[in-house]
Amino acid sequence: MILLHVEASPKGDHSYSSRLATSFLDEYKLKNPDDEIRTLNVFERDLPEFGKIEALAKFAPIMGEVRNSEQEEAWARIKEEIRFFDEADKILLSCPMWNYSVPWRLKQYIDCLVQPIETFGYDFEKMDHVGLLRNRPLQFILTRSSTMAGDYSDFQLPYLKFIFGAIGIRDLRVITASNTTQASRENTEAYLTKFDGDAKEAAQRF
Ligand SMILES: Cc1cc2nc3c(=O)[nH]c(=O)nc-3n(C[C@H](O)[C@H](O)[C@H](O)COP(=O)(O)O)c2cc1C
Repeated sequence: MILLHVEASPKGDHSYSSRLATSFLDEYKLKNPDDEIRTLNVFERDLPEFGKIEALAKFAPIMGEVRNSEQEEAWARIKEEIRFFDEADKILLSCPMWNYSVPWRLKQYIDCLVQPIETFGYDFEKMDHVGLLRNRPLQFILTRSSTMAGDYSDFQLPYLKFIFGAIGIRDLRVITASNTTQASRENTEAYLTKFDGDAKEAAQRF
């Protein structure tokens, strides 16, 4: 089994979401010592920028056009990101909230993964996406300093649930630590420790 950890904080050892992901992974490794754990930090990975060439390449087949060589080359990079993601049997996504949504580099990664024909189709009767990737477990570990899960301003969790569901990943599991800006680092650490049990329990069931 391959577990892919998609890490969406740039903060390294200072990251709260990565810290909870480590609790999860430590427990997971104890239970599944033979599994391969891969880490993809979206801030460190050399992701395609998804600009004009990629946007035109995305819609070319839908418009009945043939991609030119520049678009083909760009598309090969996009398909490589999809292939690497799709190799995983299980996915852990640790992610801070940034301005009520997700960090821009995670959005860039999602812009690579979510592609017509490759990862989703469209049902025009239901006016809805049809996910083309095989379903598999995806554990979200989300952190925010103050925005509570379910708040009207929470565009992180609903977006992540929708977008991964749209490409076929529907076994979605969620841990949310919503109050990471406590008065001091010690207080925050004490707060985060409360979620270690949840992370370990989720890892046991993963
Ligand atoms: C650019 C930026 C934007 C943020 N926006 C929000 C926000 O909209 N709501 C919120 O509750 N916290 C927000 N935060 C706080 C982080 O979500 C919070 O500190 C989180 O625990 C950081 O996780 P990390 O340590 O894994 O990066 C923001 C932090 C940054 C750096």
